[in-house]
Formats: sequence, C-alpha cells, structure tokens
Amino acid sequence: MDDDAIEVRGLTKRFGHRVAVEDLSFVVPRGSIVGLLGPNGAGKSTTLRAIVGLLAPTSGECLIDGTALSALDNPAAHVGVHMDGFGFEAGISARRHLEISRLAAGAPRARVDEVLEEVGLTADARRRVKTFSTGMVQRLGLAAALVGSPHTLILDEPANGLDPDGIRWLRRFLGGFAERGGTVLVSSHQLAELEQVVDEVVIIKQRALFAGRLGDLVTSDVDSLESRYFDLVEGASA
Ligand SMILES: Nc1ncnc2c1ncn2[C@@H]1O[C@H](COP(=O)(O)OP(=O)(O)OP(=O)(O)O)[C@@H](O)[C@H]1O
Ligand SMILES: [Mg+2]
Repeated sequence: MDDDAIEVRGLTKRFGHRVAVEDLSFVVPRGSIVGLLGPNGAGKSTTLRAIVGLLAPTSGECLIDGTALSALDNPAAHVGVHMDGFGFEAGISARRHLEISRLAAGAPRARVDEVLEEVGLTADARRRVKTFSTGMVQRLGLAAALVGSPHTLILDEPANGLDPDGIRWLRRFLGGFAERGGTVLVSSHQLAELEQVVDEVVIIKQRALFAGRLGDLVTSDVDSLESRYFDLVEGASA
C-alpha cells in the first residue's frame, strides 16, 4: 500500500468569489496523527470535506490510500469520518443511529456493540440522541466513524464540547488507534492538547503556512505549538 494514507495535491476551493482554500498540498503518512490547524474560516472544514468527497474541489485532488475516494471499492473500510452537522436523526436512539451507519458501511452486526463499548456509550445506547449532551454526541459521531473498521479517521474538531475527562479520553483513544497502525487527520483549536498527541501539523490560512513534523516546528523547549502557531498565523496576510 501507499505510504501516505491521505494526499492533498494543489487543492483549491472557491465559493463564488471567496477563496476558501488555495493551492493546498500536504500528506498524512500512514500510522501518524496529523493536526490540521488554522483560525476560524481558514479552510479546515472545507479541506476535510474535499478529502472525503463531500464537496468537489475547484481544482486539485485528494487521494485516500493512493486512490480517489470515488474509486475505492469500500470507502468505509478505508476512512471513517466525523464532522459537525453530520446528520443525526435526533429522534432515534444511539444504537439505531449506529445500526444505520453499520448498514451503510457494510460492516458486520457485532460492530455496533463494539463501537458503543469503544467510545463508552454502551449504557446510553437506548437513549434518544436528542437527549444527549454535546460530549455524548461527539462520542456517538466517533463511534459512527469507527463502525466500518477504517484504517484512517478524519475528524473535524472532535474535542469540541468534551469535558476535560473526555478530552483526555479522546487523546488516549487517538494515540491507541495510531499505535495499532491507524492514521488520524484531526482539526482542532486546542493547541496545547493537540501538541501532546500529534506527530505532524498542517497549519493553514487558505494556503499552507506549515506542513511537517511537529519537531521541525517546535524546535526548542521554550517554544510551544501555540507560540509557533501565532508566529505563523499573525505573519500571514489574509
Ligand atoms: N458552503 C459554503 N458556501 C460559501 N462559503 C463557504 C461554504 N463553506 C465554507 N465557506 C467559506 O469558506 C471559508 C472557509 O470555511 P471553513 O468552514 O472551511 O473554515 P474552518 O477553518 O473550518 O473554520 P472554523 O474554525 O470556524 O471551523 C470561509 O470563508 C467560509 O465562509
Ligand atoms: Mg471548521
């Protein structure tokens, strides 16, 4: 298999005259955790949506396991996706939601209980999604992303709304996923948290400001991801 789980090549996305993403290129090496960072409106969600085929690039391309998503036989086995506004039918139970995701992914029946367990929602499986807290909804989204047993996870701000305990749980979960050979591309605004778990970072503001290993960005003990982030973002023209 290709060494890169995800490759973004010269991605440009315009909405009318507004340039959301311009000529963005980066790779996500297999087995790594890569953080996608940038201020509000920088183009993070647009990039992730383009990668998973939810929007068509104006130009450029995105490859998953070396192939366009549309050409993959069983996309759910390659990539699991969790992002905001990703249709929850509020009136149904968590289990039912996962059952629908499982059918869509063509995964075995037993996966529903497995992913409920993995995200710690077993006890709440029969509750309606509309009664869930923000953090529980995040966990359910992650469970749905996992149901096809994908090699790669693409997560748009999965830490949003999680309590400190949930954030620590998520960090450990992602670390374990990568240790087992999985790949993660995750957007977040929580720089200190992200710094503890990522191997590489891609910092964007429409264009790439930095893409590479965390250790090549944060080179001394007095530096932090946050300080380097502000250096780059504040130095970039809008
Ligand atoms: N469907 C759309 N139609 C028009 N403009 C859009 C659309 N989606 C995104 N945009 C614009 O594209 C730009 C990038 O938005 P995007 O949601 O990718 O940013 P983001 O980095 O995810 O921001 P945030 O941190 O707030 O989530 C913004 O200027 C936004 O207004
Ligand atoms: Mg976003």
